[in-house]
Amino acid sequence: MFTPRPVGFVRSPYRETADVPKGLGAEHRAEGVIEILPEFELGLTDVEGFSHLLVLWVFDRAHGFELLGTPPSDNRPHGVFATRSPKRPNPIGLSVVELLARDRTRLHVRGIDMLDGTPVLDIKPYLSSIPGETLRRGWLAEAEGRKKT
Ligand SMILES: C[S@@+](CC[C@H](N)C(=O)[O-])C[C@H]1O[C@@H](n2cnc3c(N)ncnc32)[C@H](O)[C@@H]1O
Repeated sequence: MFTPRPVGFVRSPYRETADVPKGLGAEHRAEGVIEILPEFELGLTDVEGFSHLLVLWVFDRAHGFELLGTPPSDNRPHGVFATRSPKRPNPIGLSVVELLARDRTRLHVRGIDMLDGTPVLDIKPYLSSIPGETLRRGWLAEAEGRKKT
């Protein structure tokens, strides 16, 4: 194992967890900045060529974990590994963001759902190779179906 350390921090309009849109149909269109620490700037070489990035980050304001929980998008409990709950054994978040522009160590992005000051562990280009028709959405599709009826 290794000791994780931040490569940067998120600058977000969201200060409190309650500020972030939640539940079925919630859209993440908020813009923000991922500020990479100067010692990692070289690692951003060529990142501009990618439209979307995967951001791995730390739920630094979550406490403890729940193996079973009821997410805001449903009224039924689901296992933590079947949800995106912040209360995880290893509190690691994963978000797909659109890269709008890069200004040296500052990545201007759209689609953030992190709080201001969230530590970033890693960034990778988003490359989806799974055709939409082969994806199954599990309990979420069922919850969406119940909401429509
Ligand atoms: C449902 S989680 C999903 C996060 C990420 N997209 C994922 O799938 O891992 C998003 C929620 O995490 C919470 N959150 C965001 N930043 C956080 C932080 N730094 N510490 C604790 N909770 C945070 C907010 O309440 C937000 O609504």
